[in-house]
Amino acid sequence: MNKIFELVKRIEKLESEISTEEKNILKSANLELQSKLAENNAETLALQKNIIEKQETDFQSLDLARRVSIKKLDTVLEKLIGRNFTISDSEHWLLFSSLSNSQIVPSKILEIGTFDGITAAILAYLFPQSEIVTIDLPHDNEKFRLSYNRASSFNQYVDRRNTLIDKFDNISFVATNSANLINWPEKSFDLIWVDGAHGYPVLPLDLYNSCRLIKKNGLVVVDDVFTNLRKSDEMYRSTAAIQTFKLFKDIGIISTKL
Ligand SMILES: C[S@@+](CC[C@H](N)C(=O)[O-])C[C@H]1O[C@@H](n2cnc3c(N)ncnc32)[C@H](O)[C@@H]1O
Repeated sequence: MNKIFELVKRIEKLESEISTEEKNILKSANLELQSKLAENNAETLALQKNIIEKQETDFQSLDLARRVSIKKLDTVLEKLIGRNFTISDSEHWLLFSSLSNSQIVPSKILEIGTFDGITAAILAYLFPQSEIVTIDLPHDNEKFRLSYNRASSFNQYVDRRNTLIDKFDNISFVATNSANLINWPEKSFDLIWVDGAHGYPVLPLDLYNSCRLIKKNGLVVVDDVFTNLRKSDEMYRSTAAIQTFKLFKDIGIISTKL
């Protein structure tokens, strides 16, 4: 029994070392990418061009114009963070910008996972006529405090987020665990941005609740859908979204090709 216990401990230690190593590799790959872009490395620029073209084709397949939406997003980002969109920023900001340039006029938007409030603020600018509800865990929740490197400057983090959100009349913040969305009324949102916990057990609940809360012809947008991962976790990365979509497809909740 003791031997098994010892083995489990060693495996856990190895897992944690591998995960630290993965983070370091990602960090240095990102630095290398930035420096190659800065020195206009031909191979890197060609790769980047291919990725952007693929994104543009994907946007077009949804009748959305990616390129023209950058300008609108730039205006918004300039007001909010004093700079334009860069390729290292989240592509979902561009998706929202292009949605705001389309026929879609959501009257109510739900964001699951407020984080620092920047995306809620971007949505508020892009959809000035919409009511935006953004939710995150209550600030006394341990998972909230200990995730996303918030613990060291926790109070400033919460104050900064609240100050930003308070600037917008069309944003309301609700401190709640998204699992409580089970009690919110059906078909009450036109656009839902699912970006809270990225793994089990919360994400499948968020996806199920989003199906309940979305109005007919509404849009549910989900962040970080990994199809394959060496290791999943509760908060940041997992294959929970794709597994849940497969289940929803099997039982007929969705019909999309996966
Ligand atoms: C990836 S961040 C959100 C980023 C933000 N939506 C954006 O677009 O930049 C995830 C956020 O979800 C919150 N979160 C995690 N689990 C949650 C839960 N069960 N209920 C509500 N929020 C949760 C975390 O506290 C964190 O602030």
